[in-house]
Amino acid sequence: MEHLLVTGGAGFIGANFVRQARQRYRITVVDKLTYAGNRASLPEGVEFVHGDICEQPLIDELVSAADAVIHFAAESHNDNSLRAPEAFVESNINGTFALLEAVRKHDKRLHHISTDEVFGDLQLDGTDAFTETTAYNPSSPYSATKAGSDHLVRAWVRSFGVRATISNCSNNYGPYQHVEKFIPRQITNILCGAPAKLYGTGAQVRDWIHVDDHNAAVMAILERGRIGETYNIGASLPGDPHVTNKEVIETICELMGGTFEHVADRPGHDQRYTMDATKIRRELGWAPRYTDLRAGLEQTIEWYTHNRWWWEADKAGIERRYAERGQ
Ligand code: NAD
Ligand code: DAU
Repeated sequence: MEHLLVTGGAGFIGANFVRQARQRYRITVVDKLTYAGNRASLPEGVEFVHGDICEQPLIDELVSAADAVIHFAAESHNDNSLRAPEAFVESNINGTFALLEAVRKHDKRLHHISTDEVFGDLQLDGTDAFTETTAYNPSSPYSATKAGSDHLVRAWVRSFGVRATISNCSNNYGPYQHVEKFIPRQITNILCGAPAKLYGTGAQVRDWIHVDDHNAAVMAILERGRIGETYNIGASLPGDPHVTNKEVIETICELMGGTFEHVADRPGHDQRYTMDATKIRRELGWAPRYTDLRAGLEQTIEWYTHNRWWWEADKAGIERRYAERGQ
C-alpha cells in the first residue's frame, strides 16, 4: 500500500490523520468542505480534491487510483442532527454506500471510521463498557446514520467480499477540532471573555481520547487489522474513574482562569459512553500515549490560544446558533 484516499481529510480527525500518515504514504484528500471542513487544517503539498463522496463517478475515479481508502467524511455533530438531519442521511449513509460500491468495483481496501455512539448509552452509575459485540442502539439522528453506515460496510464484506475494517472510537479532542464541539467551544469561549457552557447538570460521562491516539489506532488497523473485523478504540482502562462533563469544564476553567454556566440540556442526551478497547490492545499492540487528560487539555488550550486565526472566523456564527437554542 502506497497511496491512500482520505475522505473528510479537511475535518478534525482526518486532517490530524493526514499530518501523521503523510510521512509514510502518498495521500489524496477528498472533502466537500462543509462548514466543518477547512483546507487550512491540511499541511502544504497534500493532493486535495474538492468533492462530495456521494458523487459516484468522482468517487469511482479517485478510488480506482488509490490502494486503500480511509473513510472519515461524515456530518459529525449531534446537536446539528437534531436540527437538520437530512445532510446526515445523505453524507453518512448514501456517501458510505457510494464508497462501498467503488471499493467493491475496484477491489480496494477500505477502513471505515465510526463511533461508540452506535451502541447507545450506558447508565451513569454502572461500571460496564461497550465491547465489539454490544448490540447497536443509537439515540440521535447522527448516531443512527453512523450505525446505518456500519451495517452497510458489514453487509458489503459478507455479501460481496469487500476488504473492509471498521473502528468505533470514543470522544476525540486535540488541535483543529471545530469550535462547535464541547472542548474547543469552552476553550474559545474563555479566550473570548465569555463563560464556558455546560449542558444540563453536566453529570454525563464521555471517554476522552487524544486525536493522535485515535489515528495511531487507525493506522494499526489499516496495516495489521483483520479484514471484516471491528475494533473499539478508547483510552480508558476497565476500572478507571469516569470523567463527567462538569469535571472536564472545571479543569478547563481552572487551567484558563475562566468560569462556566449551566445552559439548556441536549434533548435525548446520551448519559455515559465507556469503551472496552481490550481487543485492539491485545491483537494489534496499540496503546494510547496521552493517558493524562489534564496534560492533554493543557496542550489543547495552548494550541487554541496560539492559533486564533484558525477558529476566530467561525466563532460568532456558531455561538449565535447555540444562543437560539438557549445553549
Ligand atoms: P468533522 O465534522 O470535523 O469533519 C468531517 C469532514 O467531512 C469535514 O471536513 C467535512 O467537510 C467532510 N464531509 C462531510 N460530508 C462530506 C461529503 N458528503 N463528502 C465529502 N466530505 C464530506 O468530523 P470529525 O470529528 O473529524 O469526525 C470524522 C469521522 O470520525 C466521522 O466519521 C465521525 O463520525 C467519526 N468519529 C468522530 C469522533 C469525534 O470525537 N469527533 C469520534 C469517533 C468517530
Ligand atoms: O463519542 C464519539 C462522538 O463524540 C462522535 O461520534 C461525534 O462525532 C462527536 O461530536 C462526539 O459526540 P458528543 O455529542 O459526545 O460530543 P460533543 O462535543 O458535542 O459533546 C460532548 C459532551 O459535552 C456531551 O455530553 C454534550 C456536552 N456539551 C457539549 C457542548 C457543545 C456541553 O455540556 N456543552 C457544550 O457546549
